[in-house]
Amino acid sequence: MPSVLIKTYGCQMNERDSEQVASMFLAGGYELTKDEAQADVILINTCSVREKAELKALGKMGLLCSRPTAKPWVVYGFMGCMSQSRAASLFRDVPRLDVVTGTQQYHHVYEVCNRLLRSRLGQNITEHFRKGAHICRTQQEDGFQNAIRDHLPPSGNCTAFVSIMQGCEMRCSYCIVPSTRGSECSRPAADILQEVRELVARGVKEVTLLGQIVNRYGREEAIINGRSAFVRLLEQLNDMDGLERIRFTSPHPIGFREDLVNAYTYLPKLCSHIHFPMQSGSDRILQLMRRPYKNEKYLRLCEAMREARPDLAITTDIIVGFPGETDEDYQQTKAAVERIQFDNAFIFQYSPRRDTVAAAMDNQICLRVKEERNHDLLETVNRIAIARNQALVGTLQSILVEGPSKNNESRLQGRTSQNKPVIIEGGTAEVGSIVPVRIDECTGFTLYGKVE
Ligand code: 5AD
Ligand code: SF4
Repeated sequence: MPSVLIKTYGCQMNERDSEQVASMFLAGGYELTKDEAQADVILINTCSVREKAELKALGKMGLLCSRPTAKPWVVYGFMGCMSQSRAASLFRDVPRLDVVTGTQQYHHVYEVCNRLLRSRLGQNITEHFRKGAHICRTQQEDGFQNAIRDHLPPSGNCTAFVSIMQGCEMRCSYCIVPSTRGSECSRPAADILQEVRELVARGVKEVTLLGQIVNRYGREEAIINGRSAFVRLLEQLNDMDGLERIRFTSPHPIGFREDLVNAYTYLPKLCSHIHFPMQSGSDRILQLMRRPYKNEKYLRLCEAMREARPDLAITTDIIVGFPGETDEDYQQTKAAVERIQFDNAFIFQYSPRRDTVAAAMDNQICLRVKEERNHDLLETVNRIAIARNQALVGTLQSILVEGPSKNNESRLQGRTSQNKPVIIEGGTAEVGSIVPVRIDECTGFTLYGKVE
């Protein structure tokens, strides 16, 4: 039986895409492997949001292609965002590469790789260090969002990602995504509901809805009774028997209206966590970023959601060192972090991306300043995050049990509604069940507790 190894970098959208590709290989009679020496097809799903992610994927593929292997026929492929934006030029960087498929072509990955592998096996290939086959499939495809469906067969996972839309049309000046993921396109709600019903039938209890700007889902549809298509989708999922938890990522302040804030008051399955990228606390920088709203709007939305759902955990993304960012701009970001008291934040040093407006701006910030701001903000973010976790000690939390703890198989691991990881000591709760756990310890980012 041939085997395929898929390595994934980047966001949950990429994880979800990799899952679909993996399920197509399984359906074609392949097995999945993590062993580089055993794989007949090696795929890397790439991210291009920051330069580092691209370099990692390129470095990894370079190493894989140059290692000695007992399998000279191995098919090497890149898929995902970097494939979309760099396309055929990747064959120059990695001459041994066989296949490059873009973000709207991943449902063809199996067919392309399988055909190539079969033909190599048929020809009895013995020479590994030859030039790759250089097959490039990066054209955009209409209606492609409707090809999203397949999940991996039941693996005991009680959580799943569900893509509800593709693409992004916001054109933030720093971001490469609009060019890698194409224009915005929502899937029909009936398809999404059917997919979730099937997941629930296999034991899935929690779904995370994915979209580049997920609250813009179905924005061409009418507002009915004051509710957008996105909120109506949340309501329908909330009504679905067997589904216990709903999450979504990532929302954007544009198109984030009162109906979504209110959803936190009457949708009990909607989890008490939102990952809500802030990017900057300075209006001047937001404007340079081409994010068409004031920071106060963002902050008020956070506060309104916390009013609607007092235990809401808010996490965020912040970019430091955007071109032209002064110390005063940076201090405004820091002040916003103090005001909102985020449960956690990913801090990114601005990374210039090809063909973006910000990459061509004057006043690029030097690495030393980016690093200083990163380090300084991280201290603030961590202090607040740890304090918010400490405050949970002594509370009773509902934990969805996800499986054995990674570090200690004798303990179970799960997450709170706020998305905080909890290690459950002792006890024999069933995987996939939601159990009451008394939190009795917190070490930085992990909580510990016992089933009550
Ligand atoms: N440089 C640094 N961070 C970036 N992000 C997106 N583009 C860039 C860039 N060019 C960050 C944003 C986004 C997260 C996924 O990555 O904060 O929310
Ligand atoms: Fe995800 Fe964006 Fe990275 Fe693509 S570029 S993998 S959409 S984070």
